[in-house]
Formats: sequence, structure tokens, C-alpha cells
Amino acid sequence: SLPAALPEGFDLTDPDLLQARVPLPEFAVLRRTAPVWWCAQPRGISGFDDEGYWAVTRHADVRYVSTHPELFSSHTNTAILRFNETISRDQIDVQKLIMLNMDPPEHTRVRQIVQRGFTPRAVRSLEGALRERARSIVRTALAHAGDDGSFDFVTEIAVELPLQAIAELIGVPQQDRAKIFDWSNKMAAYDDPEYAITEEVGTEAAMEIVSYAMNLAAARKECPAHDIVSQLVAAEDEGNLAGDEFGFFVILLAVAGNETTRNAISHGMHAFLTHPEQWELYKRERPRTTAEEIVRWATPVVSFQRTATRDLELGGRKIRAGDRVGIFYSSANHDPEVFDHPERFDITRDPNPHLGFGGGGPHFCLGKSLAVLEIDLIFNAIADSLPGLRPAGDPRRLRAAWLNGIKELQVTLGRE
Ligand code: HEM
Repeated sequence: SLPAALPEGFDLTDPDLLQARVPLPEFAVLRRTAPVWWCAQPRGISGFDDEGYWAVTRHADVRYVSTHPELFSSHTNTAILRFNETISRDQIDVQKLIMLNMDPPEHTRVRQIVQRGFTPRAVRSLEGALRERARSIVRTALAHAGDDGSFDFVTEIAVELPLQAIAELIGVPQQDRAKIFDWSNKMAAYDDPEYAITEEVGTEAAMEIVSYAMNLAAARKECPAHDIVSQLVAAEDEGNLAGDEFGFFVILLAVAGNETTRNAISHGMHAFLTHPEQWELYKRERPRTTAEEIVRWATPVVSFQRTATRDLELGGRKIRAGDRVGIFYSSANHDPEVFDHPERFDITRDPNPHLGFGGGGPHFCLGKSLAVLEIDLIFNAIADSLPGLRPAGDPRRLRAAWLNGIKELQVTLGRE
């Protein structure tokens, strides 16, 4: 009973919509009837000439936009601006210090440097420590469970491993981790009123992270260790990062690698709890395809934005230079042109060309193999130690525009 077209004023980035139902059923309407759809945002957005954005919802088109940075720039603002949201030129200038908002050749230079920290070997070297972490997180959750055996999966299990993974990666000493974690959590820009985190608190936390990371870089430069930071900042020249560049890179990691993986883990658990036959299969066979299906199913990053660099045509629509173009990964990941029974959570799905980590262009998720490792490690630990986990209530969703998040997921250990 889906409408043939979407009502005027319908905005796919309305956080209230995403809180209620993901993936939005409206995506199916758009893929079928208007795969490149002009979403008008009538009150306009300061700093931009347009009054809306193009919503791209088909898998093939999301890939096309992602893989053509010369036509679709990342330089202006990669989060889709929401209805009535404003952004100043100053904010845009700050955003440009982060590689997510850079175009080639600048992006290429930074990416080539930082990817040294994400080679398969670098990620494998974290595996032992993270496996131990995953087990201890699960053991601690067990110890914290109430008398009735219930606890909140998000705070007890999903939150910790992604933070530990980033801290491990950049070699943050144990004694500093609590404050880094606190800053990272404060920085995540929520629309959710329950968090009551003001923009000032978020900005302050971001500045604390930059200055902490710059100090870390300076210390490693002075006295190199066998870690990634020492490698990235070894000498200040074209082949390395300057101290402030490293600071902004750590900010990006704290945003890009934290909430995303946390929500993949929470959604993964929720999917298992609501598909018990998949949980049984997982416990028996631990398919290597599991993490990818969790990311497709959850699509923690709902959308990103590009800006057209010239007049062009996409999906039969004329796009003008300067127009904003929203790419909707969560729609692409349910596109029936690409996925058989996209509505099915199937941990053996193979091939699984989902776009949860991006559409394959130069910005493709740098932390993908780390994220996949974290998801594998945590579900292995849960299957070993908490195999009888059961739901104890519906999840509470995060109110956010671009993030498909779960705020609370009560579970019980199955003690009768
Ligand atoms: C970029 C998703 C985990 C670091 C991205 C992009 C997406 C994404 C959609 C944009 C891709 C594009 O524009 O083409 C995810 C998801 C994750 C995850 C769903 C977890 C399930 C991580 C982790 C890290 C990380 C663990 C690092 C610790 C990055 C970085 C970028 C990025 C640095 C920017 C790359 C660039 O601009 O070149 N991620 N990510 N991500 N991700 Fe991830």
C-alpha cells in the first residue's frame, strides 16, 4: 500500500522518520518511480543557492556518484543538510581539514599516507589484543547483569570495542583512554534531545581530541615507537602527516570508526534476536560472510552528500553545477535489482555487494577490515559465552539524520 509518489515536503533526512522505520519504505517508491528525486527544502539553507537536494536511491546510481569524484565533489559538506539546517562558510572551511571532505589530488595524498595504518598486516596485528578485549567485554556484561539476568546490550557490549580498537590502533596509553572515550562520545553530533549535548560541548571535545592527538604525534616524533603514529608523523614532508593533520585525522577516526561500528554491533544483535534461526546457524557454523550481511542489513551510515561540479544528467534528470546530491546507502542496500530478497537477513549471503562501507570510490571506508574484524570478534565472544541471549524489550532508536542507530537494547541471559 505504498503511495505512487511522495508527498510534497517529504524529507528523507528528517530524523523523526529514521527513528521510526529503517529502511524507509519510501525508498522502494523512489527506486521504482523517481530514482533521482528532487527533495525540495522550501525554506532554503543559508550559504547555498539551491533549495533542496537530489536523492539518489538506486544501487547503480549510488555507485556511479561515489566513483566519479570529478563530477561529484566531497569538498562542500558530506553530511546532507537537513530541512532548515544552516552551515556557515567558516564551518565548511574547518570541515575541509578532514579527508572525508577533500577531493583529489589533496585527498589522494592524505589517503596514501594514512592507509599505511590500515593494511591487512596492520589490522591483523591488532587481532590478538582485540580478541582479548571482546572476551573481557562480554565477561564484564555477564557480571553486570541484574538479578533477573537482563542488561542493556548497547552500553554494556556495543560501545566499548570500537573505542578500544581506535585507541589500540593509534597507541593511546591505557591511562588516557577514559578521557579520549568521553570526548569521542560527546563529539558525536546527535539530534537526539535526550543526550542534551550542546554544539559547544561537542566542539570543545573535538578540540581536546585534536590537541591530545597533536601531543601524541609530537611525542612519537621525538621518540618513535613501533606503532602507526610514529610511522605517519616520522618526518614532516610530503610523505607524512603534519601534527595538525594527524589531529584532524584522529577526529575523523573518532567519528567514523566509533558510532558506525557500535551501531553495526547493536543492529547485528537485534537482527539475531529477531531471527533466531540465523543465531542458531551462526553459533554452529560462524560463516565468514556474517559481518558483511550485518553491515548491509543495518547500514549504519544512511547517506552522504556530494556536490555536482558541472551540469550533467543522472537517471534522466538534469543536475546543475552546484546542486547537492544525496546518496542513500540504506536504499541501495535493499535494491531488488542487486539483492535477492533484500528484506531477508541471511548471514550466508554471497556475493553481497552492499554499499554500507561506501560506493567504492576514493573515500571507500578506510576502516572496513578493522570494522569487520571487530564485528567478527564480538559475535564470536557472545556465541561462546552468552549463547542463550534473548530479547527483553524493543530497541530504542537514536534520533539522528544520517545514522541508523540503536540507543538501548535490553537483553536477558536466558536464566529461567
Ligand atoms: C569512510 C562506513 C567503520 C574509518 C566511510 C564511509 C562510509 C563508512 C559509508 C564513506 C565512504 C564513501 O564516501 O565512499 C562505515 C561503517 C563502519 C565503519 C558502516 C562500521 C560498520 C570504520 C572504522 C574506521 C573507519 C572502524 C576506522 C577506525 C573511516 C574513514 C573514512 C571512512 C577514515 C574516510 C575515508 C576517506 O575519506 O577517504 N566509512 N565505516 N570506518 N571510514 Fe568508515
